[in-house]
Amino acid sequence: MVKDMDWKTYYKERLVTAEEAISHIHDGDRVVTSFGCSEPIGIENAMVENYERFHDVQIVSMLTLGDTPWVDEKVRGHFSFNSFFASASNRQAIADGIADFTTCHFYEIPSVLKDVIKPRVAIMSVSPPDENGHVSLGTNVDYILSTLSYCDVKIAQVNKYVPNAQGEAVRNVSEFDFFVEIDRPLPEVPSVAITEVERQIGKNCASLVNDGDCIQLGIGGIPNAICEELKNKKDLGLHSEMVGDGVVDLIKSGVINNSRKNIHRGKSVLGFAFGTKKLFDFMDGNKDIEMHPIEYLNYPPVIAQNDNFVSINSCLQIDLHGQVVSDTIGLKQFSGVGGQVDFVRGATMSKGGKSVIAMPSTAKGGTVSRIVPVISEHSAITTTRNDVNYVVTEYGIAQLKGQTVKNRARALIKIAHPKFRDELCEIFERRYGEKF
Ligand code: COA
Repeated sequence: MVKDMDWKTYYKERLVTAEEAISHIHDGDRVVTSFGCSEPIGIENAMVENYERFHDVQIVSMLTLGDTPWVDEKVRGHFSFNSFFASASNRQAIADGIADFTTCHFYEIPSVLKDVIKPRVAIMSVSPPDENGHVSLGTNVDYILSTLSYCDVKIAQVNKYVPNAQGEAVRNVSEFDFFVEIDRPLPEVPSVAITEVERQIGKNCASLVNDGDCIQLGIGGIPNAICEELKNKKDLGLHSEMVGDGVVDLIKSGVINNSRKNIHRGKSVLGFAFGTKKLFDFMDGNKDIEMHPIEYLNYPPVIAQNDNFVSINSCLQIDLHGQVVSDTIGLKQFSGVGGQVDFVRGATMSKGGKSVIAMPSTAKGGTVSRIVPVISEHSAITTTRNDVNYVVTEYGIAQLKGQTVKNRARALIKIAHPKFRDELCEIFERRYGEKF
């Protein structure tokens, strides 16, 4: 027990090479890893280099920013990959059946891991220990924190580039079995230039946010555009499963000050950070930003405890009923549900809350409408028509909750791209037997 010994002795006794740490992975094991900016790439590289030592080991993770080496031909039979969120490096492998995909709401991932997938080993990135023997899980707490309570083997990649993020990211060295010191800069998600369409979507979304509201921002190209348009708001709160670089300036300038929150007043709370060194440096030692595990943070009744909660997420396609497709394009798994439905429902339950789905009106260089009469064959619904409320494009805002099916369709057609509106109107008139 670490309490009976000095933490430095405990740490030193368990400080091993990557080769030794991974020797505790057995054939047939399921191994859960931290994802995104926290992916423990140094230890993963050692596993790939030594792939012949492993048989039938399943790696379970989420939105990977690394190369997903588990899907390479060379390691077939040694490693396989099971993801909660497809990314550029494994989308094709999932489509080809080489990798597999598990879908569930983000707040449920910790229980799905523990009770269904049952990984025996967990590997994650942490910051170097401080003088009290505390490390930080850095950019990602999400599902990885709970693995410390049930996995048999917990391996930490100790990396000086991992920010000393606060809240529940702060752990004692006694919670880990092995430490491997590998310093390497974290994978980053660069901000891309905001397009004119995104800027207009940002303006339309910002018009739904009032001073004092608590916000959540999702993933994709739109959140940074929204942050730009929130600069003139006051007293916003932040309670978000993830954040990108866009929030840094809003917190620094005091636009986000969390002063009107009912829970976590004065603190920005998040499950994972998904950005660049600008964001990591801002989080480092910053006690105004607290990391919390996803089974708590994304649980809709927790989200709903803050009044006037506004969730803003994106989608790929929406039909005239208001059924929202956010993570598949036909049979292809494009991304994952993440916490979209958690926040749609939490915001809906919040007193004065609003859920917003924001998207450009077209895709594929303007050649297809995202607002369609019928969802593409094989696509899966992410947010149901009973959950959706505000839908935003660059052409305006459709408010759907409580509206008749005809009025939902009318509202959506009005915010479709003008070049697709006539066709959608004709379909409306055929479907409902009345003039648009
Ligand atoms: N038909 C065909 N292709 C489509 C399409 C459609 N209806 N909609 C989008 N695409 C294509 C786009 O053209 C683009 O491809 P391109 O870059 O080659 O043009 C690609 O799919 C990605 O679309 P885009 O809208 O640019 O994606 P994004 O990076 O902004 O992310 C989501 C948008 C919806 C994929 C992303 O927000 C997501 O995964 N959401 C679900 C999870 C979630 O909301 N979680 C909550 C918070 S983390």
